[in-house]
Amino acid sequence: MIPFNRASITEKEKEYILDSLNSKICGDGKYTKKVNEWFKDKIDADILLTTSGTSALEMAALLCELKEGDEVIAPSYTFVSTVNAFALRGAIPVFVDVDPKTMNMDVNKIEEKITDKTKAIFVVDYAGVVPDIDKVKEIAKKHNLYVVEDAAQAVGSKYKGRPAGTLADFGCYSFHETKNYVMGEGGALITSKEEDFLKAEIIREKGTNRSQFIKGYVDKYTWNDIGSSYLPSDILAALLYGQLERFDEIMQKRMNIWNKYNEFFEKYEKENKVIRPYIPSECEHNAHMYYLILPTEEKRDELIAYLKNQEIGAPFHYIPLHLSPVGERYGYKKGDLPYTEEYSSRLIRLPLFADMTDEEVDLVCNETAKVLEKI
Ligand SMILES: Cc1ncc(COP(=O)(O)O)c(C=O)c1O
Repeated sequence: MIPFNRASITEKEKEYILDSLNSKICGDGKYTKKVNEWFKDKIDADILLTTSGTSALEMAALLCELKEGDEVIAPSYTFVSTVNAFALRGAIPVFVDVDPKTMNMDVNKIEEKITDKTKAIFVVDYAGVVPDIDKVKEIAKKHNLYVVEDAAQAVGSKYKGRPAGTLADFGCYSFHETKNYVMGEGGALITSKEEDFLKAEIIREKGTNRSQFIKGYVDKYTWNDIGSSYLPSDILAALLYGQLERFDEIMQKRMNIWNKYNEFFEKYEKENKVIRPYIPSECEHNAHMYYLILPTEEKRDELIAYLKNQEIGAPFHYIPLHLSPVGERYGYKKGDLPYTEEYSSRLIRLPLFADMTDEEVDLVCNETAKVLEKI
């Protein structure tokens, strides 16, 4: 059995988790500080650890001060949390089609969707590849809009040499079990402005200025804004810290597998049997995901079923949000986003996790090839 994903946990993470139990186990403890310092050093940004990538996105929506009736531009081909984050505030999703080369939102189709109600653009770094975010920011500046970067999948990726997650007004990471670096459930928010960081600290601490109180900047803390409990336990930060200490090792292992897949499927791409992921020259990806696009939905489904029979977990990805029951409630219908509909139905993800053995990768390649040979 080859699962689609398995977290890579060593004795180091276990040791840190046990050690964390000797100190305060609520949020913002010893290991949270270590994680913050690690990111400061790595990406030159102050991060706020959160209970999930979803929470980080919800915080971003609060910081954009989105309200009932505002419009927010986003891809339909994404995880529900990207859109739930602002839908919870009553803002309306305005979906933009994907660029099938990267499966990222087509940045050339954003401007035509802007109205006087548009308040923000939520971009997603699909498969750890950042879309042309400088272009998005140019559009946002012209129309006075916020940009939120959903970098849930992009920890360790870069765009024009700059770290993913730091490229917009707000950046959101995920450390969910399925991501490259895990804390079980967890995430982080990055703000580009100091004043937003201070507001975010309050939102994360149930709307109070408790963080300022703990740092000794105020002598009592109180209700300052609306907020929620977005602060993770230090036990989870200990797990994440162990993972970050293995950052290069995990990245390298994933990259080796990604490259192996990519070399193997080159031949099949030349024979027009699959399309491999495309990495634009300005992007460095983090080997978060390896996917293939098959010639038709039927062939894709056949491959998924065949691999399942061989006990290989190879799932499809997002059902486009505009075709979901909620999407329909917003008035969307089939045919609205042709590339999203077409390519999402042809995409399959192959197993990829740091501890995957060479034999396992070979098996996935060879079993996949058996189906591709018949195309
Ligand atoms: C693009 C995207 N956004 C948001 C999320 C939500 O992250 P989390 O599962 O940490 O809440 C995920 C992960 O599942 C994701 O892939």
